[in-house]
Amino acid sequence: MTNDPTAKTLAELGVADASGVVRLFTDVRNRFTSELEAKQSANDWEELRGAWVGRKSGMLTRITDNWLKPAKPELKRTVGQALNELKAHVEAALESRRATIEAAVDIAALAREREDLSLPGVVRPLGSRHPLRQTLDEIEGIFLSLGYSVVAGPEMETPYYNFEALNIPEHHPARDNMDTFYMATPPGSAPLLLRTHTSPMQVRTMEKHQPPVRIIVPGKVYRRDNPDATHGFMFHQIEGLAVDTDITFCDFKGTVEYFVREFLGPNVKTRLRPSYFPFTEPSVEVDATCVFCGGRGCNVCKQSGWIELFGAGMVDPAVYGFVKYDAKKLSGFAFGLGVERLTQLKYNINDLQLYFQNDVRFLRQFS
Ligand code: PHE
Repeated sequence: MTNDPTAKTLAELGVADASGVVRLFTDVRNRFTSELEAKQSANDWEELRGAWVGRKSGMLTRITDNWLKPAKPELKRTVGQALNELKAHVEAALESRRATIEAAVDIAALAREREDLSLPGVVRPLGSRHPLRQTLDEIEGIFLSLGYSVVAGPEMETPYYNFEALNIPEHHPARDNMDTFYMATPPGSAPLLLRTHTSPMQVRTMEKHQPPVRIIVPGKVYRRDNPDATHGFMFHQIEGLAVDTDITFCDFKGTVEYFVREFLGPNVKTRLRPSYFPFTEPSVEVDATCVFCGGRGCNVCKQSGWIELFGAGMVDPAVYGFVKYDAKKLSGFAFGLGVERLTQLKYNINDLQLYFQNDVRFLRQFS
């Protein structure tokens, strides 16, 4: 530093009394003030700090070494006090300048990063529930309100649950129209298959639970069909089962009619047509008045006014035998709803494959 008074001692500077010390410190302080004024940037601040409070050769250190330490005993106190005041002043000023600089940096960053609220937002496409899921939810809701529970079962089954215990012994013709996928299992181990219907859960449920039983079982089922507008190798069913001590065919009919009206509308009529399933007796096919023409006759119902909805019937006593229920004391009914078919009727969908192609132009219509 040119013209640096701290290079000399007080004696060398000719300062011999307290008022001289005070004047000297006032000069130093003014010098600091003018340097602080002149230097405003963050880099300047570092330099200023080094020059004034740097431990090795800063101004305050030099004052300590050259003025305070060699001072005459009668001046030591005055010099020490003035030095402390100067030190406090310099440190406080540097600290306040540092805060100002940092605040300015923050403000600049905020200005740079500020959101432009007038920009249009990012529109995120909303998904929707798949039409099959919507049908499943709706049907589950109807039966839950009737006191049924929703249960799930395995998609991989044994021939016992899928066939035998449902009164479909080997070589029974009913196995033919349910062309079955068999799993590749090691030779000698029990065969496994993909369930061809949700009915195995009738057996599994009755094995585990004593009556009264009221369940529905939504789930995937598999059949060796070639995919086309009305066939797929996988589709969804909802099995229903109600067993108690005094369930009659009337209860069955009432439940079915209630369900169909809830699902398809209050004006839809139902009829029961004799049919055959090995695990129900009597067995029926439930028809409804055509939802498209209201029963007058159209292309969909082939001019008959009726459309086939699902299969059902009173549980065959032979099935009770497999689950050790007393067929003399118990009775009940079962039904198997095809979810794709019911969705198709509700929304007039003419191709089963649409459900599985995930084409948003199709799916969007159900949001
Ligand atoms: N499991 C039968 C099928 O898939 C449907 C059904 C279920 C029929 C329950 C009667 C009772 O075709």
